[in-house]
Amino acid sequence: GGFLPFGHEPYFDFTQPDVADLQRAAFRQVREKYVGQTFPLYIGGQRIEGGETFGIRNPADTRETVWHFPKATPEQLEDAIAAAKTAFEDWRFSDPLQRATIFKRAGELLRARRMEFNAVMTLENGKNWPEADGEVAESVDHFEVFARETLRWAAGKPVYPMPDEHVTTVYEPIGVVACISPWNFPSAIPLGMALGAIAAGNTVIWKPASETPLSSLLMVELLYQAGLPRGVIQFLTGTDDVLGDPLVDHKDIRMVAFTGSREIGCRIFERAARVQPGQKWLKRVMAEMGGKDPTVVCADADLEAAALGIVQSTFGYAGQKCSACSRVIAEESIYDSLLEMVTKLASEVKVGLPEDNAPLGPVISAGSAERIMKYVESGKKTARLVLGGERADVGKREGGYVQPTIFADVDSTNPLFQEEIFGPVLAFSRARDWRHAIELANDSDYGLTAAFYSRDPHKLAEARRLMQVGNLYLNRKCTGALSGTHAFGGYGMSGTNAKVGGPDYLFWFLQTKTIAQRY
Ligand code: NAD
Ligand code: ALA
Repeated sequence: GGFLPFGHEPYFDFTQPDVADLQRAAFRQVREKYVGQTFPLYIGGQRIEGGETFGIRNPADTRETVWHFPKATPEQLEDAIAAAKTAFEDWRFSDPLQRATIFKRAGELLRARRMEFNAVMTLENGKNWPEADGEVAESVDHFEVFARETLRWAAGKPVYPMPDEHVTTVYEPIGVVACISPWNFPSAIPLGMALGAIAAGNTVIWKPASETPLSSLLMVELLYQAGLPRGVIQFLTGTDDVLGDPLVDHKDIRMVAFTGSREIGCRIFERAARVQPGQKWLKRVMAEMGGKDPTVVCADADLEAAALGIVQSTFGYAGQKCSACSRVIAEESIYDSLLEMVTKLASEVKVGLPEDNAPLGPVISAGSAERIMKYVESGKKTARLVLGGERADVGKREGGYVQPTIFADVDSTNPLFQEEIFGPVLAFSRARDWRHAIELANDSDYGLTAAFYSRDPHKLAEARRLMQVGNLYLNRKCTGALSGTHAFGGYGMSGTNAKVGGPDYLFWFLQTKTIAQRY
């Protein structure tokens, strides 16, 4: 029995004119179908409409409001948690094969609509076509991977036997899980957390980022359509004063699964530690946070491959990935030539509209662009600017367009080296030798991803041993983790190292029962 061997969902090849035409058609379709609409909340299986709403801006031109979502009230938050608690009483005993079947079916439904989902994401968060496609394909992978993981964990694990007892170890669900997610991966990240929760038999409050709720809602509706009992996921949008602390603090929340900034992750970690009146457990917290991801380049490396990997991982989605490269640490002897190669490639990265599939689009908001430009301005005084350093002009659009920007000779104490900027800004730093380069790479509070380029087996082995990150990539770029293969999650202040898409992920959402029975 069991499912067919797993394979990653292939990406669309948008260089094929017919494929590109289909993606353009999907934009037209999405604009007709969704733009101007107001979407609902879902509580206890009911579609909830009405009340105050907020608008979602297209980052490509923030004068355009694409659609609207409700601002959930405190009463609706209470209702949603109560509904999730009620639904848990059935779902906790649901058949794992049924859960897996629902995930498989949702994956099939998504395969048929990938370009539509790509277009929605582009209009909400400004990803270009392959970036949106990569994430939607990752969401298909999540459905397939979690279908298999559901069954694998349901089988329990063997223990060393006793002669006169039947002993088993079984994994049981824990309760209501709040899933709180960021805007930069609005489908795959909340989906990964929610699938982890429901694969294990828990129920969910799904709180998407307010910038990108439709990319999330479409995933929830797919699951409903695939047969998920609707009460298993409650979908709430709104403001952080209602859905932030009050959701985290609530006594009936058993676990908070969070992905987002270090600031909010730490806040949740602290608040969840407090046992509320009536709360019968210690809350579990999964908090996956930021990164300041280095690429180390040794003197013996394939410099062309390294330069390409650096440019792709730094400027892909305008550097707005937790996994994005933001520091290059190169050995002295090849520093200047690598810098030149990277700068040349980066200067060819054109800024433009994501809907036209420009390589480098806008950052998420005007506020974000301002924050990035503050780093750039102070960088001009503390390091050597070699590329960009200004806002980019894309004609009559209002959006946070920033030129691909590179600073050289960045000292390890510089904020450009230490702080997550979350924009298309790269810091180059010199290392005396490759061991010094590894030291500099590890000189960070964060420890999410890193790339390391060398042809020397000894250096590669040392990098494997010494680099303090959750996702280490040797001779390849540091973005683009694939579900089921590159379990994702960091060290240090990058978070709790939950490793979504990996073999241990479901354990986060389970508790273990040992049952010993005498015959
Ligand atoms: P954010 O922390 O500002 O927001 C994340 C979510 O938290 C949003 O849904 C927001 O509404 C919610 N929130 C805000 N205040 C809250 C509170 N008091 N209690 C509970 N929830 C609250 O992050 P963002 O700007 O949406 O995302 C960007 C950040 O996410 C970056 O730091 C990036 O590195 C990180 N990120 C990490 C990973 C990872 O896997 N480690 C993946 C993607 C993004
Ligand atoms: N999972 C995403 C990546 O690896 C963040 O790029």
